[in-house]
Amino acid sequence: MKTSQQLSQLTSSEPRDPETRQRTEQLVDTDRRVLWHPFTQTSEWLSYDPLVIESADGFHLIDSDGNRYLDAVSSIWCNVHGHGHPKIVAAMKEQLDRVSHSTMLGLSHEPGIRLAEKLIEMTPAPLTRVFYSDSGSTAVEAAIRMAFQYWRQTGEPQRKTFISLTDGYHGDTLGSVSVGFSEPFHTGYEPITFRATKVDPPFLCAPINGFRKCDEESLNAAGEAALEALARALTAAGDTIAAVIIEPLVQGAAGIWPQSPTYVRGVRELCDRHGTLLICDEVATGFGRTGTMFAVEQAGISPDIMCLAKGLSAGYVPVAATLATERIFDAFTGDYSEYKTLFHGHTYGGNPLGCATALANLEVMEEERTLDSVAEGSETLRDLLEEYIVPLNHAGPVRQVGMMVGFDVLDIPATGARFPADERRAHRAVLEARARGVIIRPLADTMVLMPPLNMPPELLREAVKATGEAIDAATSG
Ligand SMILES: Cc1ncc(COP(=O)(O)O)c(C=O)c1O
Repeated sequence: MKTSQQLSQLTSSEPRDPETRQRTEQLVDTDRRVLWHPFTQTSEWLSYDPLVIESADGFHLIDSDGNRYLDAVSSIWCNVHGHGHPKIVAAMKEQLDRVSHSTMLGLSHEPGIRLAEKLIEMTPAPLTRVFYSDSGSTAVEAAIRMAFQYWRQTGEPQRKTFISLTDGYHGDTLGSVSVGFSEPFHTGYEPITFRATKVDPPFLCAPINGFRKCDEESLNAAGEAALEALARALTAAGDTIAAVIIEPLVQGAAGIWPQSPTYVRGVRELCDRHGTLLICDEVATGFGRTGTMFAVEQAGISPDIMCLAKGLSAGYVPVAATLATERIFDAFTGDYSEYKTLFHGHTYGGNPLGCATALANLEVMEEERTLDSVAEGSETLRDLLEEYIVPLNHAGPVRQVGMMVGFDVLDIPATGARFPADERRAHRAVLEARARGVIIRPLADTMVLMPPLNMPPELLREAVKATGEAIDAATSG
């Protein structure tokens, strides 16, 4: 196994010229002095030379020494068409020349109006209202507030708790942490979060052993067991549940764990039967990731509330939206003194630059038939995973839904035995991949591949091959 000094050498770039190198070193020094990086252990951050990204070119990120890296994780799951798409950049520049920011509090603007109209047209039928915010977490936060307040204003104030899936992830504001509460990350936060009832999702109810065994039958069997668990929880809760919240079709941060469309449909049916709302968090799955524009389409259902972010703006600027049905929206209408207003919002919610970017993204998706690229790219990815990842000695079951891939870096895949946490094998694999010109980012021991939706086959090959080699290097010895 490599020492941290060797790992540091792995990631430090070849100096182009002394001046360039000196500038990078200064930036890294300053970074280490002033920055606090998200989801990053500082002691680890200080142990190797970080990349300072300076620009991008299509599917590549370019660092301050001029080295190019394939963006195989879509800059945290949000990039759709690669970086710097000319049509999107032109739309952004045009909007910058008009107005980059104005508020949605008491005012409106054309990009916000047009984007809302477009989102309503694109999403399943009963969703008719768009509430803007600026991240996946805030989209979920708004959804929680809407669901909670809806019941208070429709005569069922006892409906004040939520059901969410074990290992579900919905963001990092406290409401979204409450529904996504994760034992290792959030233990200790109980006093400032609320308790949602956790129900096991399909992958925890029955084995789903990678895409070779991710056939319809085993997914459906797991889904059935998970629906029984949900039915039991809803029955036990009586009429106290405000909403069930799920990531439909794929639980992303849990490790890219798929569900069958039948499961998603079953969740909708159970919510209806128990008279509660369904929130679908499509922050990761939305905008083509799973093969359809929205994951719920594959189940043929519509939620009462839908959360969108990430791919909405093609991964260029922060924009998020929470969509709701007219029935929910109506419950918030009344005289001011009734205080039925949704007293909620963010300064940059519905930012005009972001909305114009999102509109351009959606136009490009249509013009370039991005969903067709997902269908082709998914097939290519599947073959590449068979070629480079499945044969690895230390890779666990490979899960794939559209352009979302996850598999575990394991000591003994046959038994599921993990490497000791402090060996940080997946993290080492990330550094090894970087040395091979590919950027990936794991979720603990789970390796994630999440390329932009139209990454060409030769670049997909480069990304998957480098990832396989990187895992081999990080797990041998
Ligand atoms: C399903 C889901 N919901 C919410 C979020 C939070 O989004 P953000 O990081 O934009 O707050 C994420 C982020 O990965 C996500 O995957």
